[in-house]
Amino acid sequence: MEKLIIEGGHRLHGSISIHGAKNSVLPILAATLLVDGVSEIDNCPRLSDVDASVRILQHLGCDVTAEYPMIAVHPGGTCRTDIPDHLMREMRSSIIFLGALIARYGEAHLSYPGGCELGPRPIDLHLSALRKMGVHIDEKHGHLDCYIEKELHGSDISLSFPSVGATENILLAAVTAKGKTVIRNAAREPEIQDLCHYLNACGANIVRAGEGVLEIEGVPHLHGTSHRILPDRIEAATYMTAAAVTGGTLLLKNIDPPHLAPAVSLLEEAGCHIRVLDGELLIDAPARIRRMRLVHTTPYPGFPTDAAAPFLAAACIASGTSVFIETIFDNRYGYVGELTRFGAHIKAEGRMAVVEGVPSLSGAAVKCTDLRGGAALVIAALAAEGESEITEIQHIFRGYEALSDTLARVGAHIRLEQ
Ligand code: EPZ
Repeated sequence: MEKLIIEGGHRLHGSISIHGAKNSVLPILAATLLVDGVSEIDNCPRLSDVDASVRILQHLGCDVTAEYPMIAVHPGGTCRTDIPDHLMREMRSSIIFLGALIARYGEAHLSYPGGCELGPRPIDLHLSALRKMGVHIDEKHGHLDCYIEKELHGSDISLSFPSVGATENILLAAVTAKGKTVIRNAAREPEIQDLCHYLNACGANIVRAGEGVLEIEGVPHLHGTSHRILPDRIEAATYMTAAAVTGGTLLLKNIDPPHLAPAVSLLEEAGCHIRVLDGELLIDAPARIRRMRLVHTTPYPGFPTDAAAPFLAAACIASGTSVFIETIFDNRYGYVGELTRFGAHIKAEGRMAVVEGVPSLSGAAVKCTDLRGGAALVIAALAAEGESEITEIQHIFRGYEALSDTLARVGAHIRLEQ
């Protein structure tokens, strides 16, 4: 079983190049199924979730060449419309193949998706939108049998919450459906914009018709294209907290500065000096950061739920008390108990966590509970005095490419052990 050994207290210094965004490449790989021809997707991060998407595409019969950071997909004579349970369970994003399969073949047979345990993660918004577009869905014992009754047609869909996954599934079903689809209260995350750019480059007709409104005019078919995945804003935000807890100075390269605005303003409030350049960001942290008064997660353009865990870890050694409010998921504080093993003072209840900063943390043996919680443990270990051992790190490999090598190159004392 692999584990990370980290000796904390070493100042980070140097530059890090940010990889492509996990949450962008996953739906785009599902979307390649819709295309007649080859999609060349560049800047793909080497992650276990991306491998899982590649295996699903191969299972469906696509010709996939994964030469990271490039993945080329040719659906060719794909003919399967089922995804086995073990592949569906590997990640939440497997559900995005539902919209792609329905649009391409008119049917899909799959089970409920897996992914991080963050409380109940229903897919009711995905299913009700697809039903409105003419899809018949039989749900039995966690299994979904879906087929088009007459035709897949456009529809006017208002989402009660701007769900990222539901927006993606509707987009995939709508781009080649008959007529026009309007998605109101659509998710506005940069990864959704990236999916729209890819689909439009393939010949789709998606326009943004106001804040949170997407209009899609169905087209008969899509053609292959080349597309570069946008930089991962959550990976970048995580490395910003690594600088913040070690009094470090890091230059982050290959970033999209506007996507990091909420992370920048919180760390500036905490006393870090941040200079945003074209496609780069320089963060210079004080010896000890100050508290971040209120970290309130909301859909984009607010502070991202996926960055809250590493920020909470940073708040553990800040001077003063920080308050975190999670509004997206019911149960995203599973890692907090592990953080207290470092000597952190945190009270988490429901969707709120109160972090009373302490002057120092001490090394501990801890276990990752989920992807971002795992990143939070790494941040705490970098700050802690002495050695820490982090196990169950397969969660971290789902979202951070080469995390230990990257941190070691900028001065962290970190090693991967078998
Ligand atoms: C995406 O998950 C991301 N995953 C998550 O990233 C991210 O935390 C989340 O969006 C919010 O930004 C990928 O892109 C692969 P949602 P998704 O549908 O699509 C409720 C990470 O760490 N909801 O916007 O699952 C749901 O229960 C991860 O990289 C319904 O009630 O997020 C949740 O409370 C984890 N019914 C909220 O909406 C539905 O049908 C947000 O879900 C769908 C969602």
